[in-house]
Amino acid sequence: MKLLYLALLVHGSSVCLGNPKRGLVYVPNSAWPQDDELWIQSGSALTWYYTYNAHPNPRYSGLEFVPMMWGVGSNPESTSFLDSITKLLDAGTKITHALSFNEPDMRSEWGGSNVAPAKAARAYIANFLPLRDRGVKVGLPAVSGAGTGINWLREFAGNCTQLLKTDCKYDFLPVHWYDNFGGLKAHINEAAREFPNTKIWVTEYAYAHRSLKDTKDFYHQSEKYLDGNQTIERYSYFGAFRSQVSNVGANATFLNKAGQLTDIGLWYLGLPGTGVDPNSG
Ligand SMILES: *[C@@H]1O[C@H](CO)[C@@H](O)[C@H](O)[C@H]1NC(C)=O
Ligand SMILES: *[C@@H]1O[C@H](CO)[C@@H](O)[C@H](O)[C@H]1NC(C)=O
Ligand SMILES: *[C@@H]1O[C@H](CO)[C@@H](O)[C@H](O)[C@H]1NC(C)=O
Repeated sequence: MKLLYLALLVHGSSVCLGNPKRGLVYVPNSAWPQDDELWIQSGSALTWYYTYNAHPNPRYSGLEFVPMMWGVGSNPESTSFLDSITKLLDAGTKITHALSFNEPDMRSEWGGSNVAPAKAARAYIANFLPLRDRGVKVGLPAVSGAGTGINWLREFAGNCTQLLKTDCKYDFLPVHWYDNFGGLKAHINEAAREFPNTKIWVTEYAYAHRSLKDTKDFYHQSEKYLDGNQTIERYSYFGAFRSQVSNVGANATFLNKAGQLTDIGLWYLGLPGTGVDPNSG
């Protein structure tokens, strides 16, 4: 009886808490490295993470790592990303999905990787199609939520198909969004219409530069929608940093100025809020 009871408890805690869609996007924090530890606490709803690069964090072994190539160097045919991921796979690291490029339609001053569609297509063919042949599901480039995004992606898909002389293959479409909830829904719909029959990942989103109330309302609406919609396979909210270094406004962040979790930070981890103001600390 006792053993059975324990087994049920363990089962209950490991199965019920993790949300298979919900992940973490963060940049390893050199100013406050202790902040990186906050995302791996027990009882967290997070199940996967990405850090805009190909290097898993050994401390994060409880979460599934999703590598990202981010940008393209001077030689688009270079396979150094593919080689890194192949090494990880050969060493037994669980990698089921890979992200390709981050906001290639945006200039670098805006945080984009600024890659021409035809060049990105070459790098995609060299690095991602071989991973796909190995059973890793690969994402189309994660364009920005600006109007340029979908156009860039259409050109990329066309260039890739031209180069291959057959359909350019992919498994999911990442999108980004930083405006209100109605806009998020419309943007996801537009992307889904343009690339039908594919899963959507919302790999960066928040309601940027808004009042705390509007930011929290957006958080709840979007969480409910993303969790409930079958087309959306995964999502990662952009907020894993302190409010004073935020480029999406102080109210959208997971941490206040002292590195304490805000309500949105706690809610995202699946924990109850404690009312910490993001501007405090
Ligand atoms: C890429 O696609 C664009 C738009 O269809 C086209 O104008 C361009 O010539 C293509 N570039 C290459 C290198 O195929
Ligand atoms: C889920 O999202 C897809 C893609 O945006 C959309 O077409 C569909 O209507 C949504 N489903 C619901 C139930 O909202
Ligand atoms: C954060 O929210 C507060 C309270 O609603 C508001 O006064 C402030 O302007 C917001 N800050 C930013 C950066 O949007």
